[in-house]
Amino acid sequence: MTMNALAKLNESIKIESIPSLPSYVLEIAREVEDTDTSTNKVAGLISQDIGLSARILKLANSPIYARSTKPTASIKGAVERVGFAETKNVCLSIGLSEQFTGSSHTIDLFKLWEHSLAIAMGSQLLVSYTNPEKTGPINKDLIYSTGLMHDIGLVVLDQQQPALFREVKAETAASERPCWEVEYEIIGYSHADVSALVMRHWGFPSLMAEVAQCHHEYELSTPKARPSTLILRMAEYLCHTKKMGDQLELIEQKLDPMIWRELGIDKTREDEITEAIVEKISEAELMAMLCRTSATKVPA
Ligand SMILES: [Fe+2]
Ligand SMILES: [Fe+2]
Repeated sequence: MTMNALAKLNESIKIESIPSLPSYVLEIAREVEDTDTSTNKVAGLISQDIGLSARILKLANSPIYARSTKPTASIKGAVERVGFAETKNVCLSIGLSEQFTGSSHTIDLFKLWEHSLAIAMGSQLLVSYTNPEKTGPINKDLIYSTGLMHDIGLVVLDQQQPALFREVKAETAASERPCWEVEYEIIGYSHADVSALVMRHWGFPSLMAEVAQCHHEYELSTPKARPSTLILRMAEYLCHTKKMGDQLELIEQKLDPMIWRELGIDKTREDEITEAIVEKISEAELMAMLCRTSATKVPA
């Protein structure tokens, strides 16, 4: 990012106007990372928030987590079913879903939320196909969280720069060029720059912010951020081929073959991987809906 673009970004985005994340997100994330924490403690924390409890319960009993088991009626049962590590991702997804609400004349916020979940889940899936000897270790939680937030900059631009953003959308559609290129021209920085700014503001690790910032321009990422950035790029491409999110950003139609090689993913498995991604897209669509389920009374 040039100094000029950075100055424009800091000058025009009002970071203090961006709503903060619910406190339970960070609290639960901290707890599940502590090896001494029990399921009871996490269930207790979740129970303190009625909206969160209702949504966790719905998700735990949905086909995403409950393949053939009996429904669970308790939060403790829900945490056990979702899994300790996954509970953190689910809480973050629920907390973030609030950011994708409200009115917009330029973008479909719900579609963007579905897209963000699909990229989060798809990227996490792709990690299992990589060759760690080529990529080094990749943190699956980090990539999931980054996927959820990689396009949050679009929401912020829509809210804070509505006139310019409308212009970007019109020019993107007319010229059929990727939106971030048009954003540079019209606004002076891209939605990916804004996503990174928001993630830093919320206190997420700088590596995550860097991956989000380079998600359309992976050639700019540092060696440390590169494997995760390439995975995000591949997830966007594969979701795009299945028409998930293509109207939002006009993702390039092609994926550089070098990305398959660099991640150590066998290109002959593309059909199998795409099929698995399609399943993740369906899960993401269901999850997007369930994250927003309204609160009802639930037992602890
Ligand atoms: Fe993007
Ligand atoms: Fe995206």
